[in-house]
Amino acid sequence: MERTFLAVKPDGVQRHLIGEIIRRYETKGFKLVGLKLLQPTRELAESHYAVHKERPFFAGLVDFITSGPVVAMVWEGDGVVASARKIIGATNPLTAEPGTIRGDFGVNIGRNIIHGSDAIETAQTEINLWFKPEELVEWQPNLTAWV
Ligand code: TYD
Repeated sequence: MERTFLAVKPDGVQRHLIGEIIRRYETKGFKLVGLKLLQPTRELAESHYAVHKERPFFAGLVDFITSGPVVAMVWEGDGVVASARKIIGATNPLTAEPGTIRGDFGVNIGRNIIHGSDAIETAQTEINLWFKPEELVEWQPNLTAWV
């Protein structure tokens, strides 16, 4: 089953958007299989954004992502990688469509609320970087047993 890595960035946590963001993926129909709050180390942040290490915004990006707690998540479902990115919206919140997370809540590219893996292979790399295998939970939704 396809999985993706999502993270509510420090601005999303500070702006009380954790619940709103989780709600969007829950109500869409995806399954949460990993969840934790942590303040990333510089080492973790630099590995996560290694692809951008030559870019002028890299140092500021690492400063920002390590500045406070982040909610790291793994979500599972058919097509979840691309769908999660659609729900997130464009990188620049000013051009992200209304209805997307960045379009609804952000105004600054350097404070764009949430990260989402951009491809299936990237998702696997990011899940392995942020989570130990035992932190991911296998479970079967069973609505009829509870409601
Ligand atoms: P990127 O991987 O291009 O975007 P996305 O998060 O949509 O996959 O860039 C990673 C992060 O780097 C992005 O979320 C915000 C930051 N960033 C800047 O601060 N300035 C920039 O010009 C770009 C392209 C990204």
